Amino acid sequence: LGFENRKIVLSGIGHYFPETIIDNSFYNDLDIGSDSQWIEERVGIKERRSVLSLEEIKALRRGEITREDLVRAGRIMPIEKMVKNAWLLATRRAGKQPYAIDTVILGTSIPDWHIPANACAVAASLGLECAAFDVNSACASFVVDLHVARALLLAKAAATVAVFNAERYTTGVNYTDRTSCILFGDAASAAILDTNPGARGLQLIDTIIDSSPAEYDKVQFPVGETFRQNGGAVQKFAITKSVETTQTILERNNLTPKDLRYLITHQANLLMLQNTYDRLGLTPEQRAFNVDTKGNQGACGAATVLSSVWDGLKPGDNVVVVVVGSGLTWGAALFRAC
Ligand SMILES: CC(C)(COP(=O)(O)OP(=O)(O)OC[C@H]1O[C@@H](n2cnc3c(N)ncnc32)[C@H](O)[C@@H]1OP(=O)(O)O)[C@@H](O)C(=O)NCCC(=O)NCCS
Repeated sequence: LGFENRKIVLSGIGHYFPETIIDNSFYNDLDIGSDSQWIEERVGIKERRSVLSLEEIKALRRGEITREDLVRAGRIMPIEKMVKNAWLLATRRAGKQPYAIDTVILGTSIPDWHIPANACAVAASLGLECAAFDVNSACASFVVDLHVARALLLAKAAATVAVFNAERYTTGVNYTDRTSCILFGDAASAAILDTNPGARGLQLIDTIIDSSPAEYDKVQFPVGETFRQNGGAVQKFAITKSVETTQTILERNNLTPKDLRYLITHQANLLMLQNTYDRLGLTPEQRAFNVDTKGNQGACGAATVLSSVWDGLKPGDNVVVVVVGSGLTWGAALFRAC
């Protein structure tokens, strides 16, 4: 089709976690029948972060305030503020600042704006004068955003793309529902995809995305309501798709699981993650995750893990990121350190 195979490099990535730490015992105080031991044994999460204070979460649980009250009072940290530190780390790692970005893509499950695109608010606050738009695909957003960015870069419709993800699920869950409010943590990430010949970092070699729209009712966050999911059904689906998609992206690039430095999966549940790793026969050293201390960060989970292993990567290391989320949508990205 006339697409020239350009070398695309993730030249920098950064992450941000807000300060409030929610441990499992906190949910005991909400009086919703939550059991710390159940959470640790069945979900594997010990702590997660929130843009809210613990007092604000208790007030939400007691019905004394609503999310809308917190928004009106300016108590919910905006996305552009969340991504700022992630952006500083990404640009420091990429070694250039200010950066000549020509396209900004942002994915979030919980936007600040219906209009404009949240990417425009982020670009404005970071002083990036360029095309900016949102591509949201819930927990699969990071890989879907990479897939869209890669297509633009290969088509020469862009030269340097910034991909932002930010999640604040702790402001939108139902704090009377013990099965869902314990899962989530807030986070943000920023990544720079560069086609300049001298770019170093992680070469983006391949991406895959796919969806099963008939299952759009399995994980939902309807406008004006709170998060809900059929956790059991999604769990089986997520494990199967994570394994299959990892195998597909490896096989079509003549690799096997043994060739991986790291596999990074969607950070939904530590047990799910370990089951996926076991099925692929991966060693403990090949398993990178942060769901145990940061919870399910939606679109950001895999990106914040990638950011945390960044400094230890060596040329030639292969890394696969595989994600599954609401949609149901899934995808994978293959990187090689260069
Ligand atoms: C959500 C999830 C953690 C639930 O784990 P599970 O082992 O399937 O547990 P179940 O939902 O069957 O619940 C088992 C029991 O534990 C209870 N329980 C749930 N949360 C609890 C808590 N915090 N404390 C104590 N008990 C709890 C349930 O109410 C249920 O009780 P019941 O049998 O009396 O009804 C798990 O299914 C999961 O991680 N799914 C995948 C989610 C995912 O990948 N989503 C992708 C998009 S983000």
